Amino acid sequence: MKSIQATTYSIDFQDKGYEQLSNLIERKKYSTLFILVDENTFEHCYPKFIQNFKTTKSLEMIKITSGEINKNLETCIRVWNAITELGGDRKSLLITLGGGVITDLGGFVASCFKRGIDFVNIPTTLLSMVDASVGGKTGVDLGVLKNQIGVFSNPEMVLIDTEYLTTVSEREIKSGMAEIIKYGLTYDIKLFNKIKQYKSLNISDLIFRSIEIKNNVVQQDPKEQNIRKILNFGHTLGHAIESFFLESENKKNLTHGEAIAIGMVCESYLSSKLLGFSFEKVTEIKNVILTIYDKTTLLKDDFHKIMELLKHDKKNINGQVNFVLLNDYEDYQLNCKVPVNLIESSMEFYNS
Ligand code: GLY
Repeated sequence: MKSIQATTYSIDFQDKGYEQLSNLIERKKYSTLFILVDENTFEHCYPKFIQNFKTTKSLEMIKITSGEINKNLETCIRVWNAITELGGDRKSLLITLGGGVITDLGGFVASCFKRGIDFVNIPTTLLSMVDASVGGKTGVDLGVLKNQIGVFSNPEMVLIDTEYLTTVSEREIKSGMAEIIKYGLTYDIKLFNKIKQYKSLNISDLIFRSIEIKNNVVQQDPKEQNIRKILNFGHTLGHAIESFFLESENKKNLTHGEAIAIGMVCESYLSSKLLGFSFEKVTEIKNVILTIYDKTTLLKDDFHKIMELLKHDKKNINGQVNFVLLNDYEDYQLNCKVPVNLIESSMEFYNS
């Protein structure tokens, strides 16, 4: 598979990726190499990584505890302390091996350590392959508020090895699929049409096309002033729903993709109400999503708590919630203001 070139780095696939990583390490003459893992990627992915990765330099491992709940500044402090104790300096390289928590947090840790050291992302989940590892967003959560603290900072390279996907659950694969659906609806409807045949998908092709799309969008608008906002389709309401389930002790946690899938159904509904997006297409989106994801019930009594969380969305300006909505497939409108009662109706529509 050929590489994809981003502004300052390349995204390399399978064996060629490991070769490129070794070349990068030789070329940049790093003083020390660190690899950030969690207990799962240590057990299931690190053995594959070390089998493929060739270097003469020693590699120091830093392990954190998995889970969104640990994507916070306390974990960053632990990692900064570990790098310091292990002799890290400005010429160190941090390799992140894991899902979105590891790549987002690792990229942030690297970008702030001694005002910035290089990092390489090796995503091991579908979600981090098609989204988190590419595009330069790094950061951590503040309480239940997702990605409130962070910086834009590009990795030196991204290595995609689909072999790592054999280590993750079907639920995790579906979580990543939501981002692929998003690319399909907003940018390339052929991708969405492929997802309709959910059981017979060529995952490598979907990953390649998704990264191509994300990279195109980010190259046009790296700091999310304009077109990059389309990558937030389904995420405005989706993030609030995800945070709500995360902070509710008596409710199961949703994966990011499960929450975003609900968000896409609701935001498609809002698109039909406000922009005349075809209701037939809204129904199609809902049907495809409900064939892939189990239905979650959003209780009417909880709507106000979800609305409260919406107020903290990073995209809000002057307290106004901003949605990306669809005029049609592949045709969007940015910065849409939506009345509160319509947001509630969209959640009722999801429930119906
Ligand atoms: N995950 C959306 C973005 O990278 O802009």
